[in-house]
Amino acid sequence: EFHELPKHVSFSFDGPLGGYDKQQLQRGFQVYKEVCSACHSLKFVAFRDLEALGYNEAEVKAIAKQWAIKAPSVDPATGEASTREPMPADYFPKPFANNVAAAAANNNAIPPDLSLMTKARHHGSAYVYSLLTGYQAQPAALLKEFPDSKTPEGLHYNPYFANLNLAMAPPLTAEGQVTYSDGTKPTVDQMAKDVSAFLTWTAEPKLENRRRAGLATIIFLLIATGLAYMSYQNIWAEKK
Ligand code: HEM
Repeated sequence: EFHELPKHVSFSFDGPLGGYDKQQLQRGFQVYKEVCSACHSLKFVAFRDLEALGYNEAEVKAIAKQWAIKAPSVDPATGEASTREPMPADYFPKPFANNVAAAAANNNAIPPDLSLMTKARHHGSAYVYSLLTGYQAQPAALLKEFPDSKTPEGLHYNPYFANLNLAMAPPLTAEGQVTYSDGTKPTVDQMAKDVSAFLTWTAEPKLENRRRAGLATIIFLLIATGLAYMSYQNIWAEKK
């Protein structure tokens, strides 16, 4: 078995009470913007959703505008190229005009939308991190056992990908590929972690609310159980 389970990696949102680290989400967004968005859309995320990461309205507007250059927006009603600039209410557009163009540019594979990727795969956050940091040479043992399994031209060996070979070339290859403004060192490992955290947020932006509500519910139920027990004692107190 050459396929590997995701690496163990820790995130601020691990555990039942963990939450997002906004600085990290901003760094992860930067990696998405500067690297991944060349091929991957986020069709369930609108530019204005970025306000949850701490960007203000003006910053969100400025970010939306950058996509006018990065991706041609398509009017969803007509399929025609849209001539207007993206607005905060628009969703992160697809970088290719259609699936044929996407496949043609990527060795016949269509880069999937990443909005829900961390939910679509087991241990999604760790999976994305592992995939990004897991490219390696094909192990000699694999070639020995299955001589026909040599990674085809144009594909890349990655033991965290279920098929072992994928059409995405390693997107994060060098330290300093992005420049972080908060002083964090942009190692490949750090960029991979940050973008995995960002993609966890895109898939579950309300994670913190869900956990807070769960905690409040449990505390309420504990108190209610205590009260119920006390009234039970009270009601039956004279029947001993
Ligand atoms: C597939 C993430 C950059 C092209 C994927 C998958 C993920 C991913 C999670 C899905 C793997 C699966 O199905 O389990 C990312 C991230 C990037 C990035 C986080 C930025 C750091 C890019 C870039 C390109 C690209 C820049 C194009 C040059 C593709 C393609 C696939 C893919 C073609 C489909 C691979 C296949 O099914 O064989 N990517 N990607 N990706 N990505 Fe990326």
